[in-house]
Amino acid sequence: MNRAHTTYINLDQVGHSFAVNNEKIYLFKDLNLSISQGQSHAIIGPSGAGKSSLLMLMSGLEPPKDGQVQIYVHGIDHEISQFRESIGFIFQQFHLLPELTALSNVALPLKLRGIKNAEDQAEYWLKKVGLSHRLTHKPNQLSGGEQQRVAIARALVFKPKFIFADEPTGNLDGKSASDVADLLFACCHENGAGLVVVTHSEELAQRAQHVFALRNGECHVC
Ligand SMILES: Nc1ncnc2c1ncn2[C@@H]1O[C@H](COP(=O)(O)OP(=O)(O)OP(=O)(O)O)[C@@H](O)[C@H]1O
Ligand SMILES: [Mg+2]
Repeated sequence: MNRAHTTYINLDQVGHSFAVNNEKIYLFKDLNLSISQGQSHAIIGPSGAGKSSLLMLMSGLEPPKDGQVQIYVHGIDHEISQFRESIGFIFQQFHLLPELTALSNVALPLKLRGIKNAEDQAEYWLKKVGLSHRLTHKPNQLSGGEQQRVAIARALVFKPKFIFADEPTGNLDGKSASDVADLLFACCHENGAGLVVVTHSEELAQRAQHVFALRNGECHVC
């Protein structure tokens, strides 16, 4: 592929470790992989393999302990952390603001960008995830699956260039899971966004164009 005209995130010799009781525990070392805008990617692997940690590094939400994560735009490399505004992140634990309604949680990223009709757009996306009847509910008045769908609407509302989703269908029933997956893949396709999903669902992983397996500190392309 000629990459001069594409935007992609590149991980170069990336390693991550934690110090626990004065002992350094490596999650993974020397990872080299890239994520392209407009393409879909899945990360699979057993619980505790480091998938959520890897997603935080790829998206620039956390710096790696070793190596580099950079974003290439028209052949020029930039620090990934400078591109926060282009990245939508769906956390495994949702991280919704408890004091805000579903509508305000979804409108917030737009308001922070100074966009005027933030609430109309938030309502549109909450409808898309099947929550038009829950606009004024706060997170503690929503089920786990409903909170997950609010988190998804919040990540998609500003049409990010890259979407990172950590177990986006983990709390959903079969029908809602496939609706949410349709939405994520459609977003990737229609907006030319790059999509990275971490999942234990084989069905979801199989829908991605690229699948990475993280296991025993190594990452392999499937
Ligand atoms: N801040 C931290 N300090 C110490 N260890 C940590 C920290 N964060 C994560 N870990 C450890 O790193 C390992 C990988 O965690 P991570 O959440 O990335 O796994 P995962 O592959 O996403 O698992 P799951 O499928 O259960 O979500 C775990 O064993 C966890 O205990
Ligand atoms: Mg995880």
